[in-house]
Formats: sequence, structure tokens, C-alpha cells
Amino acid sequence: MSNAAPKGLSGLSVTVFESRMSSTLMQLVRLQGGEALAAPLLKEVPIERNPQALAFGEAFLARKIGLVIFLTGVGTRYLIKVLETRFDRETILSRLRTVPVLPRGPKSLKALEELRIPYLDTVPEPNTWRELVATLDRHAGEVPLKDLGVAVQEYGARNPELIAALEERGACVLPVPVYRWELPDDLGPAREAVRRIVRGQTDVTLFTTAIHVEHLCRVAAQMGVEDRLRTAFERVVIASIGPDTSEALRAKGFCPDVEPSSPKMGPLVAETAAQAAGILEQKRRHICGIQVRDAILDLAAEPELPYENGPFLRACRRQEVPHTPVWLMRQAGRYQESYRRVRGKHSFLELCKSPELACQVTVRAQEDLNADAAIIFADILLILEPLGMGLEYSPGDGPVIPNPVRKASDVSRLSPVRPQESLGFVLEALALTRRSLRPEVPLIGFAGAPFTLAAYMIEGGSSKDFAKVRRFMSAEPQAWGDLMERLVDGTAAYLSAQAGAGAQALQIFDSWVGCLTREEYARSVQPYSAKLFGLLGGKVPTIHFGTGTAHLLDLIAAAGGDVIGADHRIGLAEAWQKIGTQRAIQGNLDPEALLGPKEALRAKVAAVLAEAGGRPGHIFNLGHGILQTTPEENAAEAVRLVHELSARR
Ligand code: CP3
Repeated sequence: MSNAAPKGLSGLSVTVFESRMSSTLMQLVRLQGGEALAAPLLKEVPIERNPQALAFGEAFLARKIGLVIFLTGVGTRYLIKVLETRFDRETILSRLRTVPVLPRGPKSLKALEELRIPYLDTVPEPNTWRELVATLDRHAGEVPLKDLGVAVQEYGARNPELIAALEERGACVLPVPVYRWELPDDLGPAREAVRRIVRGQTDVTLFTTAIHVEHLCRVAAQMGVEDRLRTAFERVVIASIGPDTSEALRAKGFCPDVEPSSPKMGPLVAETAAQAAGILEQKRRHICGIQVRDAILDLAAEPELPYENGPFLRACRRQEVPHTPVWLMRQAGRYQESYRRVRGKHSFLELCKSPELACQVTVRAQEDLNADAAIIFADILLILEPLGMGLEYSPGDGPVIPNPVRKASDVSRLSPVRPQESLGFVLEALALTRRSLRPEVPLIGFAGAPFTLAAYMIEGGSSKDFAKVRRFMSAEPQAWGDLMERLVDGTAAYLSAQAGAGAQALQIFDSWVGCLTREEYARSVQPYSAKLFGLLGGKVPTIHFGTGTAHLLDLIAAAGGDVIGADHRIGLAEAWQKIGTQRAIQGNLDPEALLGPKEALRAKVAAVLAEAGGRPGHIFNLGHGILQTTPEENAAEAVRLVHELSARR
């Protein structure tokens, strides 16, 4: 071995986004003297996990589709592969050769040519949905869109304008998303990489597929730093493995600095190493007219992503905190004068469905209380409408569901939940609230757990004994399983969308699960809750909450959640023993304690803190939602007391 080999990456910090070949690439970087950091950005999705693609296959072979539009080359090839797992390849291809098909651009056209599928026409450049629709309009004589089943193969983002234009012309559109990659389950390394880039601690980045670009932007967007990432890349070497990746980078506004002569890992690292120092010098010399040295100093002075390192998220991760973080369940609500004023002008559902109003009451509650987190103003029952259920809130009786689930056919009639479409107002409220809160205050998103949602759907509203849901569970096991599966899927999609829209933590409310026996919970609820937590995949910390759960806590903890909620009917020390000290805990002041007198409050807050014993991973909260008759000053006093009594030296 020669010692004279150039080590062009010496002293440089190099982020490797590659997943499968990560260790090879890291090794190549190290051989060039670089400090390699792995931040995998994708997970391969098993080919058979494409239910919408398979549903397309069924409809297509049943001759319900009269036109197929292919939007991308990768997607076209991949769709055929997915279909082959369920249907006969030749049958699919020969049918595609008889039905009109239209490729959007040169890549989907090439894919069709490889498969020897003739196409209706080519779409003129720049191949946007407008040219595509204009092309279809020219063929309106042979392929009239009115009442025609039109499948649109999608890859990545949906194109709502295209779908709307087709629907305007009378087509019945079936969007067919095909995907092969998702974000990895553990986003920790990717988030750390984004943080380091934003803070100016990264010198070189290696992009080895176009998907890295999309996924990196998604992670940055979730963290609320997409713009800062863009600016930060002005001081970082961006190396791209080949033309497709470079194109994806440019499309997102990043300018690739290196593209090797051959799209392989060896040349990528070697050619990046040869040029890195020169590129860095160029890129860092001036930033918007400021001398680099100053700009880097500015960056170093910039704090950590403000909310990431605050007491609430640190406690979720069981890290040391300067004081015990505290927020109160139902901190925005009728006990507040300001809330009652807003409610005087709007119904509860109007409030929930107006992002501006929801944002206003969320921020107001957090600020009035000086709570360590805000929780988005919404309701666990909002998901019932997209499922196809009615939902009313009556002043006396609480929520009312006029068409409850009573038999198996009521379950099979439920609709799938598409949160972006039907719960977009919550996502908008989150995005707006994230921007309105002080940057160091984290925002909590939430949803009902499958059992508690099913309980409302079956009981038709609130209940004392939950007799109907318990009977349904044992008498109709099949329909129960079907219902729970649907709720898991809908809730997982909804919560993931909330994390994408700006929630830094997610609370899952299984408020009424305490009515069940251990056997009922273990058999009919736990597997579904566990599946839900599994699907959330650790993207952001999760809080698993229930009441009356002293007899279930170990099973609840086993189902999932970084933080487990405990109500006031159990001591925190005992609760912690049941869930294991590897989990954080949230609770558990009796909401009655806030009714007064104020003097007694101090002792009650101190007692809860004493039970927690200063162990890391305690989030102070009430055992259940704040009571309507609570004086506002007592709620604020409780928060103040937690801060005072738990302050570490
Ligand atoms: O905590 C917050 O500040 C965020 C807002 C929030 C609401 N509901 C607002 C609300 C949250 C997190 C919820 C969750 C929720 N909703 C749960 C789980 C929490 C728990 O208490 O166990 C449950 C079971 C529901 C269902 C629900 N929504 C009920 C039973 C009621 C009626 C309660 C009542 O006091 O009338 C609601 C309505 C509701 N949700 C209100 C608020 C502020 C009161 C509506 C009004 O203004 O009239």
C-alpha cells in the first residue's frame, strides 16, 4: 500500500445518505481521510405492499379502465412488477396493448417501448399536466373522457390539477400511486444529518439516488427547517452520483457541485475528494457578500433547533432537564374566558375546522399558562366524519353519533381515511400554529386510539359502562377485527400527516380503555394499538394515554409509546414500576386539585413531583382533562409551581 495516495477528504465531515451500500461508501470516504457519517434516507418497501396498485390491476382486468396515463418511467416499470406479483404478466401486457395509454414524457414513453406497448400519442414539451390534457382533448373523438375509467400512475407527489382537469371532462379517475421507497423507520440519523448541515458542521454530502433529494427535503420540512437547509447547502459540497440525481437536486433548488465521469461509488468518492477542497473554498469565500468567517461564527452562535432541546422533548427522550416540563390536557377549553368568547360566536366544529381559530386558541392557552408544550386544538372524534359517520356535539350530552355501528355491514360500509383530503383543516392548523408559537415551544398532535374511537362509534356517544362496545367485541370478533384494522390504518395515516405538517410529538388518547379486563385488552385491543405504534415508526415521540388503567399499564406500555400516561388513581412510582423505567411517564395530578383552595395546590403538586423522584422522563400533567369549573388562575399557578418546585440547581 502506498502512503502517498492523495487523501482529498482529510479533515472533512462527509454525510453519506446511501442505505444498502452504506458501509462500502463509508469505507471509501475513510480511505480518502474523510470523517464519514451515515444518514440513511430510504427503506425499501416490499413489492407486494402496494394495495392501490393491485386494486388498479383488478379494475383493469375487469375492463373498468378505458385509458391509462403513465406519468413516470420508474413508476411505469415498477407498476408492472407489482402487478406481476398478483396477476399474469402476459395478460396484463396484452391488455395494455389494446387499451389506449398515454405516456407523459420521454421516460414513461421509453418504458412503454421496452414493454412493447403502443401509445396513443406523445405529449409535447414541457410535458406538464396542461400539455397532457391538451393532447387528450385532441383525441376526444376516439377516446371520449365522459364516463371513462381513467387510471393515472403516480410516483411521488399527487397531481391534483391533472385529476381535476380529467374529472371536469367527465372521467372517473383512479389514481394509482406506486412506490418502492419510504423514509426509514428510524429517522434519528437523518434528522441529525439535517441538524449538522444547518449548523454548518458538514462539509460534503453524497447523494446516490434521486430519492435522497426528495426524502431529505421531507425530513427537513418535518423539522421546520427546509429553508435553512437550502441556505446551508450554499456552504456544503453537493456530490451527485449521476444525471437523474443531479436533475432531482436542481428541481429542489440545490446545485450539484460534483457529478463523476461514471455513475458509480468509486468515481463519486475519488472525484469528490479531488475537488472538495477547491469547491469549499469557492463556496465559503462569500455568502451574500459577508466574509465567510463571520457567517460561520453567526451560524455557530445560532441555537439548536429551538424546540428540539426544550424540556418537553428532552423528557420524552428521558434526558436531563432544567425543570420538569408541564402541560395540561384540555388546556384550551371552556374553563377559559377567552375560549368562551370565541365559542360564543362559533360552534365547536366550526372552531375545529377553521385553522386560524384553532391556531388562535391553541397558542393562547399555551401562552396564558406558560406551558412547556402546546397541543393542537382539535378533537379525537373528527376522524369519524371521513369514515362516513355523523358527528354532532350537543351542549348537554357531549358528542352524539347519530348512525352508530351496530352490525358487521355497518363496518364494511366505512370509507378509508385520506387525511390530506378530509382532515386537511387539522394539518393546516398545525402548520399555522407551528409558525405562530414561539420557536422553543413544541407542538403536540393527537388522535384517538382505535379502541376509544370504536367505543364512540358503537355506543353512539359517551357511555357509563361501555356495554355495547364490549358486547360487539366478543359477539362479532370478525367485524371487530375489521373495524380495528380500518381505524389503525386511518389513524396511522392521520398521525403521520400531522407529524409532516408540524407536530413534534403525538399523543394517542385511549381514554376509555380502562373499562376493559386484562383479557379483553390483551385479545381485542392490544394487537391493534401495537400495530398503530409500529406504523408510526418512531418519527416523533409518542405518548400513549388512558384512564382507569392501573390494571392494564404493563399491557398498554407493551403496545407502544415513548411516554405512557398515568391517571391520578395510581401513584407515579407504582405506575413506573409497571411500565418499566425505560419509558417516560406523563401525569398525574388529580384535576380536582385545580378547583381549590390555592393553598392546598402546592402540596399536591409537590406530592406528584416527589412520586416521580426526579427521575429523567417525567412530564407533569393532569390525570385527565382539566375540569370546566377550574379557575384559570389555578391552572396557571399549577404550571408555575411545577417549574418552581422542580427547578434543578
Ligand atoms: O387538550 C387540548 O386543549 C386540545 C383539545 C382537545 C379537545 N378534545 C377539545 C375539546 C383534545 C386533546 C380532545 C381530546 C378528546 N376529545 C378526548 C380525549 C381526552 C380525554 O378527555 O380523555 C375525548 C374523549 C374527546 C371526545 C370529546 N370531545 C368529548 C367527550 C367532548 C365533550 C366534553 C365536554 O366537556 O363537553 C368533546 C368536546 C370538546 N373537545 C370540547 C373541547 C374544548 C368542548 C367543546 C365545547 O367547546 O363545547
